[in-house]
Amino acid sequence: METLEAIFNRRSIRDFKEVPVTDAEIETLLKAAFSAPTAVNTQPWEFVVINEKERLDIIRDKMIFARYNAPLGIVVCGNMKFALKSKDKDLWICDCSAAIENMLLAATDIGLASVWIGIYPIESRMATMQHLINCPEHVKPLSMVYFGHGTYQEPGRCRYNEKAVYWQTYDPDRKHRTKDKPVMGHY
Ligand SMILES: Cc1cc2nc3c(=O)[nH]c(=O)nc-3n(C[C@H](O)[C@H](O)[C@H](O)COP(=O)(O)O)c2cc1C
Repeated sequence: METLEAIFNRRSIRDFKEVPVTDAEIETLLKAAFSAPTAVNTQPWEFVVINEKERLDIIRDKMIFARYNAPLGIVVCGNMKFALKSKDKDLWICDCSAAIENMLLAATDIGLASVWIGIYPIESRMATMQHLINCPEHVKPLSMVYFGHGTYQEPGRCRYNEKAVYWQTYDPDRKHRTKDKPVMGHY
């Protein structure tokens, strides 16, 4: 699959077949993650790969927003010991997000379905996940991504919006009508 095809076809899928993700596929996902750009080459990312059903069931039980039946979850964490020490520290979020997007696109490319589950900065979600995967305070779980074989497909879509594109400089006078705002939710 061409890169653009993966970008335009990726969709969040929330119901999965009971088919495991192979070790080779997991390796591909991780290699994609580790190929992401990272500010000042800090590489603050760490990945907890969870493919034991009992563990995933506990996560599903404790985290209602993560109740999808995927056979694989990868929790993407930022290790504050590797993050920048200055006020630029928050760049770890960008690095880890780039790694996540790389995994989503790699998954699409190899025929796997996926959905990104947000954790950081929601304190309750972070505390629960830190406890469930046994990570210390300085390791922040940013998000979990579920992977597997979807029971359904969604058509690719691009939400190109010329009202959100400015050329050369921003135009603070541009009018945004309330009815043009995106509807919030899993759309
Ligand atoms: C930071 C982030 C957090 C998200 N958290 C969740 C989540 O907790 N549960 C969920 O079902 N989807 C979650 N999603 C997926 C979005 O709902 C989804 O990307 C959005 O509805 C657009 O649909 P699409 O991915 O099919 O294009 C998250 C996506 C992002 C980028």
